[in-house]
Amino acid sequence: MFTGFWVVLNLLAMLVHMGPASGSADLRNFMYLTGQHPVMPVHMAEQQDITHMALAFMPSGVFNRRGQHDVDGNPHEWPPLFQSINHTRMLVNPKTKLLVAIGGWGDTFGFEKGAQSPKSRQRFAHNVAAMVTATGADGVDIDWEYPGGNGEDYREVPNAEKAWEITAYPLLLAAIREALGPDKILSAAVPGKPEDMLAFTPDTVPDIMRSVDFLNVMTYDLMNRRNTVTTHHSGVQNSLTAVDAYIAAGCDARRINFGLAFYVKYYKTEHDDCVRRKNQTGSALGCRTLLMEDPDTGADLGRAAAFSWHDNVPEEVQASFARAQTDGTYDKEGGGYYYWDEDADLWWSFDTAEAIASEKIPRVLQARKLGGVFAWGLGEDGPKYEHFTSMCRAWKKVRDDGWGMAGRNNSSEIRDEL
Ligand SMILES: *[C@@H]1O[C@H](CO)[C@@H](O)[C@H](O)[C@H]1NC(C)=O
Ligand SMILES: *[C@@H]1O[C@H](CO)[C@@H](O)[C@H](O)[C@H]1NC(C)=O
Ligand SMILES: *[C@@H]1O[C@H](CO)[C@@H](O)[C@H](O)[C@H]1NC(C)=O
Ligand SMILES: *[C@@H]1O[C@H](CO)[C@@H](O)[C@H](O)[C@H]1NC(C)=O
Repeated sequence: MFTGFWVVLNLLAMLVHMGPASGSADLRNFMYLTGQHPVMPVHMAEQQDITHMALAFMPSGVFNRRGQHDVDGNPHEWPPLFQSINHTRMLVNPKTKLLVAIGGWGDTFGFEKGAQSPKSRQRFAHNVAAMVTATGADGVDIDWEYPGGNGEDYREVPNAEKAWEITAYPLLLAAIREALGPDKILSAAVPGKPEDMLAFTPDTVPDIMRSVDFLNVMTYDLMNRRNTVTTHHSGVQNSLTAVDAYIAAGCDARRINFGLAFYVKYYKTEHDDCVRRKNQTGSALGCRTLLMEDPDTGADLGRAAAFSWHDNVPEEVQASFARAQTDGTYDKEGGGYYYWDEDADLWWSFDTAEAIASEKIPRVLQARKLGGVFAWGLGEDGPKYEHFTSMCRAWKKVRDDGWGMAGRNNSSEIRDEL
């Protein structure tokens, strides 16, 4: 009788725990702080909302070294970050977890070497843990772009030669988790385009999730130099496609942060095709770009470009960007702000501060009840931090009132609209 009562109580507690959410105290607000723009809004209240900050990057190659001493017998130093963990700690909320991000676009070689064998994985993991201790960080974020291929070198090294990484990647993460212990944070930045999710399948994702605390799904650059027609680089629809792929592969939505880009992207278009498309459909969405990547070498042909909100707008596109800001359109269906400049033949794609709060947060974070949001990167939004503050306000509503409560609150309706 007593046991039965106990079981019922536990079941009730479980139901309450799993039931419709009201507030999510542990909702994450994860900011990359980059060496390119190492500035923060220390004067703004929203800085206090940041739950995690990752300093980017430390190169992956340094974690393959043997032994604790260099050739002269001196203890190894870790390559200095643009700003130390200890210094950063003085500038953020005492509760903010500070991570070191390892790798980044194009920096795959160190991971490939480290992932190869049980021994190399153990060495890599041991070095990561030693670096975490030496720097005083709370954990690491692994930015291998990408295990299994489709990285910077995909035309030079075919994906077939990297197929082994698909099984090695979860093993490398497991080794890092073991070396770090259960209390340090281990996260991973993972691809947002389905074709790049070579190592993220129903076979591997459950294994990956056994080692990491959460994933940062890079729901930006979804239109990049490998695309051939215009679309949103960080749209609602293609962001949902990305996070849904991880959920379908076995990742709990609560362990996903979806990504925001605090920068502007633009691409050169094929004039006649875009005129035709606009004439036929009313918008240039889906019209052809110029060739943006060398088909033989994979080199960037300079026809897809970006600048952060912190950067000066390149002079040659200043007039066009001004038109994009005043005359652009929000595509309700795909969920993205865009402008096609017929005179300059440029396609613009970026998130306005307003669209982040009124569209992105409700239609992605709330609709899928994700565990948080992240952005690349905090300093990129300076000195005004308009996108960051707009994001924080919407994020806070969800944190305090629950996924369903803030703004538009019926996720099935939101989903139907898509
Ligand atoms: C960071 O600060 C702590 C506490 O003051 C100190 O013990 C540690 O040596 C510092 N670490 C580094 C790498 O400076
Ligand atoms: C636009 O469409 C109209 C009819 O739908 C056609 O008469 C016109 O030639 C088209 N213009 C261009 C530039 O394709
Ligand atoms: C839910 O949203 C509707 C319309 O968007 C609003 O009128 C209503 O007050 C909201 N309910 C709650 C509990 O926030
Ligand atoms: C959400 O919207 C759908 C479709 O309009 C409706 O059937 C459902 O009852 C609504 N749910 C809530 C909780 O309001």
